[in-house]
Amino acid sequence: MTPRFQAPRGTRDLLPGDLGRWQWAEAQARGVLERYGYGEIRTPLFEDFELFARTSGESSDVVQKEMYRFKDLGDRDLALRPEFTAGVMRAYLERGLGGRTRIHRLWSAGPVFRYGRPQKGRYRQFSQINCELVGSPAPGADVEMITLFVDLYEAWGFRDLTVVLNSVGQPASRRAYGERLRAWLAPAHERLSADSQQRLVVNPLRVLDTKDPGDLALFHELGDVPRMLDAIDEADRAHWEAVLAGLDAVGIRYEVDHGLVRGLDYYTRTAFEVHDRSLGAQSALGGGGRYDGLIAELGGPPTPGVGFAIGLDRAMLVLEERGTAAPVPPAGIYLAAMEATHAAALALARELRRQLVVELDVEARGFGAQMKAAGKSGARLLVILGEEEWKRGEVVVKDLASGTQETLARPGLAEVLGARLAQAPPPTGGGAKGTEKP
Ligand code: HAM
Repeated sequence: MTPRFQAPRGTRDLLPGDLGRWQWAEAQARGVLERYGYGEIRTPLFEDFELFARTSGESSDVVQKEMYRFKDLGDRDLALRPEFTAGVMRAYLERGLGGRTRIHRLWSAGPVFRYGRPQKGRYRQFSQINCELVGSPAPGADVEMITLFVDLYEAWGFRDLTVVLNSVGQPASRRAYGERLRAWLAPAHERLSADSQQRLVVNPLRVLDTKDPGDLALFHELGDVPRMLDAIDEADRAHWEAVLAGLDAVGIRYEVDHGLVRGLDYYTRTAFEVHDRSLGAQSALGGGGRYDGLIAELGGPPTPGVGFAIGLDRAMLVLEERGTAAPVPPAGIYLAAMEATHAAALALARELRRQLVVELDVEARGFGAQMKAAGKSGARLLVILGEEEWKRGEVVVKDLASGTQETLARPGLAEVLGARLAQAPPPTGGGAKGTEKP
């Protein structure tokens, strides 16, 4: 029977079994970010629509087609965040961070929302880990960002990643480059897809981002695509070369991709992405770049910045497909009780749970049912509160892996059980079966 309610199109439920890998990945990422000296910032899930329209760019797909825009009951024009950068920069200005220290290293993680066409690796609610280094125009900031970007993937077991890079220059050189692109495409204008024809008017660079096979064939036919790197000015070129030299020094593998333009409009100079072909059409695992005009665009003092976001859903999809084992939660204890000791078991469970993983039967079922549940629970130790033993101040403990059994005194029980769980199971056979009622 189809349930009456289903998760909205493009959204997913992550169940406890799926979340082990996510939580592990988030913990690894947090460790890397702390070691790089980044501080966490949490901003609202929704902001003024205008904030995103101004920063992502009126002509970007994100603003044109993908925004979850709504009016609240106070008739405010709001939108669910389609990315973190705009909200983080709004907070940077509103909270006066620029007046405290010159350079800020900030990270965030959580859900973002884009109304795209759902497919493998593309969801309407997805998660990002987002990092920003605000306040420095130096190429060293770009190098730190790209190094951190790669180190996050490496902490998850990705190896031999190649970062693709381009320089998208500054608004003036971009305008000049846009004219070159228009001139280059002019002889074939009529044969371009409608989407690309429109992009050519509003934001010609975005034409390079087309996925339309007809457009791609046309580019091939025209040959010699004009390169942004040939259009940038001297200062941009010096910055670009210093970034490449820095990446060489750190040992980051990169390739220059002259067609890399990024989907958001705020980028200046360095733009970068990392891809994994196993994801098919939605192959970008993450991306970012420099955005030296963004804070001024929001009405703040001219402040440079560089950052990136990693798409966690896509990274987790790749790890899952590669069979990277999800970490196993620590094995714990199953606490079994008799009718007379059930209340005592509840109190003991509460005490043990201050240190250890403990499961017990909340329904106070018979001993047989508890033994079955213990076998299924994945617990390593079975702790039995037999009526007589409990009266003597003892419990019976069975190692479900080896079958060995011992009687332990009530005082100091948590410490002894903790030590048993920390030991590797003894090699003798036995297992959980055949446990007798003590
Ligand atoms: P972005 O390239 O738009 O950059 O998104 C970053 C990553 O989010 C993508 O590479 C991809 O892995 C993931 N992603 C994007 N859309 C979807 C989707 N519909 N479903 C699943 N994953 C998706 C930004 O968001 C910039 N704010 C990054 C940045 C920070 N630039 C400077 N600072």
